[in-house]
Amino acid sequence: MKVAVFPGDGIGPEVTREAVRVLEALDLPGLTLFEGDVGGIAYKRHGHPLPEETRAIARSCDAVLFGAVGDPDCDALERHLRPEQAILGLRERLMLFANLRPAKVLPGMEAASSLRPEIARAIDLLIVRELTGDVYFGDKQRFVCQNGERGGRDVMAYIESEVRRIAHTAFRAARGRKRRLCSVDKANVLETSQLWRDVVIETAAEYSDVELEHMYVDNAAMQLVRDPGRFDVIVTGNLFGDILSDQASMCVGSIGLLASASLGERQTEYGTFGLYEPIHGSAPDIAEQGRANPMAAILSTAMMLRHSFGREAEAGRIEAAVALALADGVRGSDLGGHAGTSEIGDAVLERL
Ligand code: NAD
Ligand code: IPM
Ligand code: MN
Repeated sequence: MKVAVFPGDGIGPEVTREAVRVLEALDLPGLTLFEGDVGGIAYKRHGHPLPEETRAIARSCDAVLFGAVGDPDCDALERHLRPEQAILGLRERLMLFANLRPAKVLPGMEAASSLRPEIARAIDLLIVRELTGDVYFGDKQRFVCQNGERGGRDVMAYIESEVRRIAHTAFRAARGRKRRLCSVDKANVLETSQLWRDVVIETAAEYSDVELEHMYVDNAAMQLVRDPGRFDVIVTGNLFGDILSDQASMCVGSIGLLASASLGERQTEYGTFGLYEPIHGSAPDIAEQGRANPMAAILSTAMMLRHSFGREAEAGRIEAAVALALADGVRGSDLGGHAGTSEIGDAVLERL
């Protein structure tokens, strides 16, 4: 069982270190880790945010554990050299089109939410975000108008096969949950979204046991804070999913709690090849202070064990250890507490 570990920038290495400690504590026979550079650190060391060496490691492994990328020093670089191209490049090259971002309020954690506890209590949802299409991967241009004004253009596009495969992922996920699917789009304005909605409706014919509704993204953003308990599975495009998942994290309590799995179709000897990462970024504002909450990274290893290695029992053990630590009052600064990154790692390890 080969795992590529790409810590990246900012708090990426700090939270990944704790995730790896938890993974290694399980002592799984045959588990081998291979580290690689991504993001700003890779640009500084190798001149590229996703060097060929790193790509080769990813290709040769059964799963990727990813920290975070992003470095303010690199924000002025040409776009293809910016740290973020590492994660976008991995998603595209490894064809990881399905991004699963679960958001759940654990019993006793209601007060951590930005919402009132009685509203937060009911949150148990899964955002299925399309990850390799949309305005992220369309043509991009800077241009100059005839009057000399500068302009920018990013093409938003989906083709039906891209929508159909993510719709299947979402319907199947709903089948394993409460059988309710909400497809989020902006079909009242965007042609891309009308195609999205048409294809989701066609796909629904194969899932008569799943209740499907459609919601415009502006309303979805509102409903997510008004009555988040109404959602089971949300399926949406790349850009809307990015935004709604950060919002969902604060409905739960912190962006430092939300993990993700990015999956494609490739099967390995052990399960589905995937990339696992917290939904948060490199958090330059708190980097190198030992204050980052590693729980999202730790929970990402649980998702990896579940989806890429068929190790449901070990995944459950990690999730239970994190839940116990939270129940015992272990809180990082993001949750109003004082526990540092390695202290939180220790607390999870003890309970594991
Ligand atoms: P961010 O998620 O890095 O940080 C947003 C806020 O949340 C910050 O105040 C940060 O301190 C806090 N935060 C994030 N994770 C935390 C944790 N584990 N514990 C405690 N607090 C935490 O988003 P941003 O500031 O918009 O972006 C910073 C950089 O990260 C940018 O370069 C961006 O492109 C990049 N980014 C990368 C990824 C990724 O690698 N997948 C994801 C999001 C953003
Ligand atoms: C995320 C991040 C990335 C995204 C960035 C860093 C490219 O925000 O994983 O949520 O927009 O997908
Ligand atoms: Mn994001």
